[in-house]
Amino acid sequence: MAKRSDGKRSQRGKSDFKRYESREDNFDSNDHERRRLKNKDEGNELTGLTTAWLLAAANLTVFLSLLLKGANRYLSLKPETKSAVKRLNQFQKKHLMRFHYLLNPLALCIALLHFLLSCCRKTSLPELGLFVVTLMVFLGLMLKYKGTPKWMRRFVYRLHTASVTFSVMIVLLVVGHLIVD
Ligand code: HEM
Ligand code: HEM
Repeated sequence: MAKRSDGKRSQRGKSDFKRYESREDNFDSNDHERRRLKNKDEGNELTGLTTAWLLAAANLTVFLSLLLKGANRYLSLKPETKSAVKRLNQFQKKHLMRFHYLLNPLALCIALLHFLLSCCRKTSLPELGLFVVTLMVFLGLMLKYKGTPKWMRRFVYRLHTASVTFSVMIVLLVVGHLIVD
């Protein structure tokens, strides 16, 4: 009698152990899943793409201007070609700068929404890129609306219009997104 109850107890012990083992496996796989999701960067594609297109449209004039100025500076062109290139630049700026003023602040608003809807843990380069975009928009507004003290104006103009600032912004955003992709 005592032996039979010992046998039953040991069988119950075995099945308890099996249940415990499968529960542990389950915890392990849940834990693994949770960690996998935590490491995965999620981005809101719609707001990301909208920001990118707005920035592209807003800064088309800047891209053309840097290209035409670069051509005049680095290519050995005839003086009349140089002045034609200069005139072409003035013409495109006259018509496209209005989009630069309007679409850049709009792009910044959508970029902030994109930032709130996305999470990236692998790198903070996209956040740094967003910081540079924000800085550029504020510097631009300071230039356009002339609210800057005279002594600062030169510095603000130089920082805003330097091709290096523009390139840093693009590189941070592109490399940052390649890492989180
Ligand atoms: C001006 C700033 C930004 C622009 C123009 C931008 C643009 C984009 C674009 C176009 C996409 C879609 C890419 C694709 O479909 O593969 C995207 C996705 C994404 N963005 Fe941004 N973004 C900006 C800022 C940020 C910031 C600050 C963060 C950080 C929280 C961020 C995190 C992400 C993530 C995690 C994805 C998803 C990547 C993937 O799964 O492929 N972005 N962004
Ligand atoms: C991401 C945002 C922005 C970027 C990357 C950017 C970039 C630039 C660059 C590179 C230039 C020099 C273009 C050239 O050499 O011809 C420029 C010029 C300028 N930008 Fe922006 N900008 C931004 C936003 C803004 C905003 C929001 C405003 C004002 C509302 C603004 C106002 C100006 C002005 C007044 C100029 C000088 C135009 C001239 O020399 O005739 N920018 N911007």
